[in-house]
Amino acid sequence: MTRPQPAIFIDGSAHHHYLEYNVGTGADMAALKRAIVKTLSAAETVPADSGVNMVVAFGPALWARLDPGGDLKGFSPFQRISGVDGREAPATQRDILIWLHGARLDETFDGALTVQRRLAGLAELAFDERGFTYHDSRDLTGFVDGSANPKDEAAREAALIPDGQPGVGGAFVLTQRWVHDLDAFSVLSETEQERVIGRTKPDSVELEGDAMPPDSHVSRTDVKEDGVALKIYRRSAPYGLAGEHGLYFLAFSCDLHRFDVQLKRMFGVAGDGQHDRLIAFSQAVSGSYWLAPSLDDLERVFAAD
Ligand code: HEM
Repeated sequence: MTRPQPAIFIDGSAHHHYLEYNVGTGADMAALKRAIVKTLSAAETVPADSGVNMVVAFGPALWARLDPGGDLKGFSPFQRISGVDGREAPATQRDILIWLHGARLDETFDGALTVQRRLAGLAELAFDERGFTYHDSRDLTGFVDGSANPKDEAAREAALIPDGQPGVGGAFVLTQRWVHDLDAFSVLSETEQERVIGRTKPDSVELEGDAMPPDSHVSRTDVKEDGVALKIYRRSAPYGLAGEHGLYFLAFSCDLHRFDVQLKRMFGVAGDGQHDRLIAFSQAVSGSYWLAPSLDDLERVFAAD
């Protein structure tokens, strides 16, 4: 039985810290491996009751160098999507993603400092941002984010590479930083905002029948293919300050294809003449695909040579 990284599924953290690193082609891989081993063991030695959780994930190019024999289905860099109305999902593919989350800002921050000390000089810190829980798990638009997320066993099924496939117990990951235009969104009446999202604002009830617009966010992301619901497991959180803010979109999936389908439907390039109204109110400014390997694969790849 393979063991996924447990922190993927630990819920309810009020504080998040995201670190994205680039690793040059000339990097000292042996030293980098040692630093990652230390980073991973630091996470394990954090006292269990301190509540700092860590997920580590790798971009396709670095993972291919770390695990040259692996043959992961469809694991390739995030590709830019050029959408309708001049909107786009840019590609900023990076090499290492560290997601720390916990109950306390100070402890989560200490975790991020520890990781940075270990990786400094071996990998270039390209993105460094904190996320937070906003009210009762709402996005900054004021809508609850995560209502339709699969739970328990269904979450594991949505997020993890299944038995019999290379990378079993790992999870593919999509991260995207979105910058919101809350001024533009707040001009809309509450009913109109609900039509953009596809759920009611106070209590997150899904709109039904004729009340659900075909271009709502829910209509564009709740997708079935050959009768199979393309579920993903979302762990996004708001980030930012008064001037610039938005959502750090972070989601796990058993298959990168699911993200691809949802993004193409959002950006109006799925061929059905529709796009997601939400992209008028928020702009993606980064995008990477990652693999969060199982603990078994981490132990195998980072075992002392
Ligand atoms: C500005 C960025 C985004 C915001 C503010 C946002 C917000 C929301 C909100 C408020 C909901 C409804 C409540 C819920 O079920 O969680 C939702 C649902 C959902 N979102 Fe997003 N989202 C964003 C980007 C994305 C992206 C990039 C994807 C996929 C690549 C995505 C996939 C989904 C899915 C799968 C659902 C559930 C649909 C269902 O089955 O009902 N979202 N999102």
